[in-house]
Amino acid sequence: MSWAKEDLHELVRTKLTGRLFIVVSNREPYIHISSGGDEIQCIVPASGLTVALDPVMRSCGGVWVAHGSGNADREVVDDKNRVLVPPDEPCYTLKRVWLTKQEEEGYYLGFSNEALWPLCHIAYTPPNFDESHWSTYKKVNQIFADAVLDEVGDRQAFVFIQDYHLALLSRLIKARNPQVITAQFWHIPWPNSEAFRICPWGEEILDGLLGNDILGFHIGYHCDNFMETVRRLLEVRIDRERSAISRGGRTTLVRPFPISVDFDRIAGDAAKAEVGEEMENIQRRWSLADEFIGIGIDRLDYTKGIPHRFRALDKLLTKYPEYRKRIVFFQLGEPSRIHIKKYKELNAEIDDVVEEVNWKYQSGDWKPIIYVREHLSPTTLLAFNRLAHFCIVSSLHDGMNLVAKEFVSSRVDGDGVLILSRFTGAARELTEALLINPYATDDFAGAIKDDIEMPKEQRQARMRKLRQTVEQNNIYRWAGNIINELANFMT
Ligand code: G6P
Repeated sequence: MSWAKEDLHELVRTKLTGRLFIVVSNREPYIHISSGGDEIQCIVPASGLTVALDPVMRSCGGVWVAHGSGNADREVVDDKNRVLVPPDEPCYTLKRVWLTKQEEEGYYLGFSNEALWPLCHIAYTPPNFDESHWSTYKKVNQIFADAVLDEVGDRQAFVFIQDYHLALLSRLIKARNPQVITAQFWHIPWPNSEAFRICPWGEEILDGLLGNDILGFHIGYHCDNFMETVRRLLEVRIDRERSAISRGGRTTLVRPFPISVDFDRIAGDAAKAEVGEEMENIQRRWSLADEFIGIGIDRLDYTKGIPHRFRALDKLLTKYPEYRKRIVFFQLGEPSRIHIKKYKELNAEIDDVVEEVNWKYQSGDWKPIIYVREHLSPTTLLAFNRLAHFCIVSSLHDGMNLVAKEFVSSRVDGDGVLILSRFTGAARELTEALLINPYATDDFAGAIKDDIEMPKEQRQARMRKLRQTVEQNNIYRWAGNIINELANFMT
């Protein structure tokens, strides 16, 4: 049985009985921006985390505390820095936390994204550990804790903390209000203890995370890595059977909760007439006829294996020249974390590889890769998902990867092939995808060829199973499982 929005709503009503529900993350679900004139636009950021959590908040209500990062964010909040969202259907409160440029640099760009992000992803980018970034990270975690405590006041609350930006938050909250129940979900992989131990402040990070009542990862493997890391670095008691860690008189349950998407909503939106119209616009704009259309939709990040997929396309066109002029691959990418050197280098590398591959095979009006580097509306993204013959997700390492699940959910026509990296959490569930190793260029090229040649019945049978998996294990089930576990702490 699949979970619906209403089931989650009911669960929260009965199990959280009167507790205030607070979600905390660095990235906010809605960003207000202005491009100069009077008009303020509200955009949805390219973040798997916020896309996944928004339907949960729509169903549960409550307060979402996050960094206000838009240039018009301050213009729409009240005197408590709150604004009701989503703009089209206001049903929960977004409370914004303000950071200075310096704080953003040390905490977000610096420690979160130059140290923890590469530390946790095996993408062969070395972390940069900088003492001043670390101290800003601690300071900003305290700023978030103050904002949460301010919301909680003297009410009973359940605080659901997101991701690696806020590893110290639960401890800081509980130091001032031990009654608050906290769960934290780590949206990225947890590395093995050998990799983690290079972090100079590893023990403090682990201690911070053990302030939580529940700590969630996408897959069991990351839970095991975490438990082993803790065992090696801290004095703790580990109960393997319960998957629990005890330290200083308190216990943290460590559990896998594979995150997902709102299947029904995506499928419903994908079937709308405006998506059909947008598909026609895209076909017209790029003069598409009956080519095999491939897509890659990514935040431009070095963990996503974007150059790797272009190399695979290059290999395919060299080895099998009969596919020249018959494939068009759309790379849709939203720039990300561009103030970090590695991301600048990645952007330059992508430009180079696209240019090189296109130059090699270009003929007449046709070129194999069309690179669209801009923020696209949800309707346009759905239209691309629906037009595609195949979607490539070639992450070098990824906690889950929701682009894959969005692609599957949007295929209301029951067709399309997902080519998915083995190194994503999603590969454990979406076993009917064509699984690839992005580093193995020849095999990867072979998978694209297999896809193109796969008989329609087989394609559809695979897609049917993929859709069943995502429909069953949707975002409401994910949140429901976490809340059910939490309810045990309230008796
Ligand atoms: C990953 C992280 C999220 C983050 C997202 C976008 O999915 O797990 O926490 O929001 O990337 O990155 P950004 O740095 O733009 O928030």
